[in-house]
Amino acid sequence: MPPGDIVYIPTYGTSIMILGSSKAIFELLDKRSAVTSSRRDTPMRHLDGIRDEWRRHRRAFWQHFTPNATKRYLAIQSDFAHMFARKLLSDPSGLKQHVRYTFAGAIVKVAYGFTVGETNDKYITLMEKVTEGLQAFVPGRYLVEFLPIVRFVPPWMPGARFHQDFAVWRGAADEARKGLYLRTKQGLESGETSQSVLAKLLETVGDEGHEREIAENVCMVAFEGGADTTYSTLQSFFLAMSLSPEIQHRAQAELHSVVGPDRLPTHDDRPALPYVNAIIKESLRWQNVLPLGVHHTTTEDTVYDGYFIPKGTMLFPNTWTCLHDPEVFPDPDRFWPERFLGPDGQLDPAVRDPSKYTFGYGRRICPGKHFADASLFINMATVLHVFDISPPPDEDGKPVRIEPRMTNGIMSYPEDCRCTVTPRSQRARELILEDH
Ligand code: HEM
Repeated sequence: MPPGDIVYIPTYGTSIMILGSSKAIFELLDKRSAVTSSRRDTPMRHLDGIRDEWRRHRRAFWQHFTPNATKRYLAIQSDFAHMFARKLLSDPSGLKQHVRYTFAGAIVKVAYGFTVGETNDKYITLMEKVTEGLQAFVPGRYLVEFLPIVRFVPPWMPGARFHQDFAVWRGAADEARKGLYLRTKQGLESGETSQSVLAKLLETVGDEGHEREIAENVCMVAFEGGADTTYSTLQSFFLAMSLSPEIQHRAQAELHSVVGPDRLPTHDDRPALPYVNAIIKESLRWQNVLPLGVHHTTTEDTVYDGYFIPKGTMLFPNTWTCLHDPEVFPDPDRFWPERFLGPDGQLDPAVRDPSKYTFGYGRRICPGKHFADASLFINMATVLHVFDISPPPDEDGKPVRIEPRMTNGIMSYPEDCRCTVTPRSQRARELILEDH
């Protein structure tokens, strides 16, 4: 077995295994997904306020996010991408808030049918709190995960901070879930909310009891799973662009020849834009948002390459290693979209596709992947078509070189993605302001 293929970390009451190669990940999480698709029922999951019943939730979710179903949401994604461009034009320094609004806003519109407030939206603020809670799934961050007895420690004891943390996250999750449901329901009654995933689910399951709870959870999970992952990926894209003017110029030349100066890109342009597609792949690879994926738990004992893996082991796929393997991606820390293109300038199918890794594995693979991919495309293509992105200036006006570094945690974000965003021309400015 190659060194680091699997690393087993025995801890009190829990076994953790890090899967460090493509072979180990696909063998265990994909081929053996019948016994590796649980999420450990840790005290965390009881405390975090979300009931499991994963299969029913997942089935309900998939129906609304298949590649075909996702086509229904492309117009909403485009509207939000145009709004994003307008926000960047009027307030370029608010980049992070605008990225947040664009993705969270599109998901809320699709899932619940209404448009979130443009600033300080209650639900976006609540979701920021909830995603802080998702960080709790970092192995070892909270003692409670490994010493279940600690769960019964009273909140006033030193070291029992999880009680307070969980109370905040659970409160935020409950408030968001209930509030979003009520808002949708009232909106449907008054005619203010348009068609949405929740409205469709309520049509089929009715609006009482347990089935309704599943419908609420499905939409909440879309918001939870979708908003921060895309938020981080788009921030990494801005950072990469500010560091690589030649990449921007090549993408802009491609957009100019395919889309022209008189309109903004649409999803229909995508097949004719191999270089922009290569930028998306590289953005998913370069600083991937879930470096250790999301853990899967074994539901039976199993053996891998002669190593015994007990039931209940948490398997963490080392997605980062697979996407930074120098044998597969030469000079892996460099943002270099050309790696995905063949000599004919088209995407080369022989190069490892990062989306086979970043979106997870087996039966747990991200059900929002088609939605995420389409959303990243329209936002990146729109931004590249009308803006130049460059490093931020220091006090003397000289460009600051930002070191690409990511935060720690199960989800990771660029530590610093400051950049200068300016419209490319007077024509670009007009295009942004036109009513689309
Ligand atoms: C760049 C964007 C995204 C990335 C990198 C990403 C990645 C992931 C990963 C790695 C997982 C865990 C898979 C596993 O267990 O192996 C996951 C799960 C999930 N994602 Fe995404 N995701 C993204 C966007 C989205 C979006 C936009 C949505 C919703 C519209 C979404 C909804 C979900 C849901 C519901 C799950 C839980 C699935 C389950 O536990 O069965 N994700 N995602």
